[in-house]
Amino acid sequence: MDELTIPRPDDWHLHLRDGPLLQAVVGYSAAHFGRAIIMPNLRPPVTTVEQAAAYRERILAALPPGSDFTPLMTLYLTAQTTPQEIEQAAASGFVQAVKLYPAGATTHSEAGVHDLRACDETLAAMAELGLPLLVHGEENAAELDIFEREQVFIERTLLPAMARHRRLKVVLEHVTSAEGARLVTGNEANLAGTFTPQHLLYNRNALLSGGLRPHLYCMPILKREADRVALLEAATSGHPRVFLGTDSAPHPRGAKESACGCAGCFSAPWALALYAEAFDSVGALGHFEAFASRNGPEFYGLPVSGQTLTLRRQVESVPEFYGAGDESGDACIVPLRAGGEVAWSVVTRQ
Ligand code: DOR
Ligand code: ZN
Repeated sequence: MDELTIPRPDDWHLHLRDGPLLQAVVGYSAAHFGRAIIMPNLRPPVTTVEQAAAYRERILAALPPGSDFTPLMTLYLTAQTTPQEIEQAAASGFVQAVKLYPAGATTHSEAGVHDLRACDETLAAMAELGLPLLVHGEENAAELDIFEREQVFIERTLLPAMARHRRLKVVLEHVTSAEGARLVTGNEANLAGTFTPQHLLYNRNALLSGGLRPHLYCMPILKREADRVALLEAATSGHPRVFLGTDSAPHPRGAKESACGCAGCFSAPWALALYAEAFDSVGALGHFEAFASRNGPEFYGLPVSGQTLTLRRQVESVPEFYGAGDESGDACIVPLRAGGEVAWSVVTRQ
């Protein structure tokens, strides 16, 4: 199979930031994806429907002329998020989900949740109204090994919360461990999982062996090869509740190439090509359409796109960096696979 035409895909996990960075990156997602779930971890975070409405307007204003990209907004869950806010979110028509960041787990998560049980009334309202909980699944206790945080979160926090709220729709985002892959491809009808290109293509050796590669540093961190293989198997399985979520998370070059570098991989321009490469590597392109274009809308109760996108097996070179001006400046963003090649390319969209 050298060419693949699929309904226009959506990105079910995307960081667009704000201000000049938003302006610099939004066009890359909008060029390929029809819709994207927009992460609310701005500073300050997007915690109210009113803030989500204002952020949505800023995103729409930053789009290239003529773009029909639809940002699907999320609220940042805190212990102060009320069931009334959830009712407003569900009635808004533009807030699609609520995001859980365990406090301190990742970029801009300081305002997140310390104990999810404190949010039980809010979660009950979400379950009642069908508003999904999107989960950054990492337990963040200081004594926990960074490579084990996802597994521990599943046991200590996720499974108990799902047991307390049987009807709550949950997305375990950016699944990174074999345990997570097993859970989301199981029989929990209200649980889905998203997978990033970096976790399907790289393991922790790529990050740490033979030199530190800051542009492969993200949270949850890349894991062992056995985990990567399990993730690839899950993502390419054709299971109805696994779908695409890039977690494309731009940071200025200087913030990543630093003594204390930020977590996040900027993948938006090449994400579809990288996913195609990952699926192709295990002969699973037959399941690519379900993963990229169908399973996400199905889970969220939204229509599959009526537009199409075509990918072709065609080698392309990935630029060393994006953004205007000087290579070390604030507007400069280094993409995933920078300076390398991808084996697939998006050729048309209709
Ligand atoms: O690597 C990451 N970067 N993981 C996250 O959860 C947040 C993201 C960001 O916002 O940069
Ligand atoms: Zn993210």
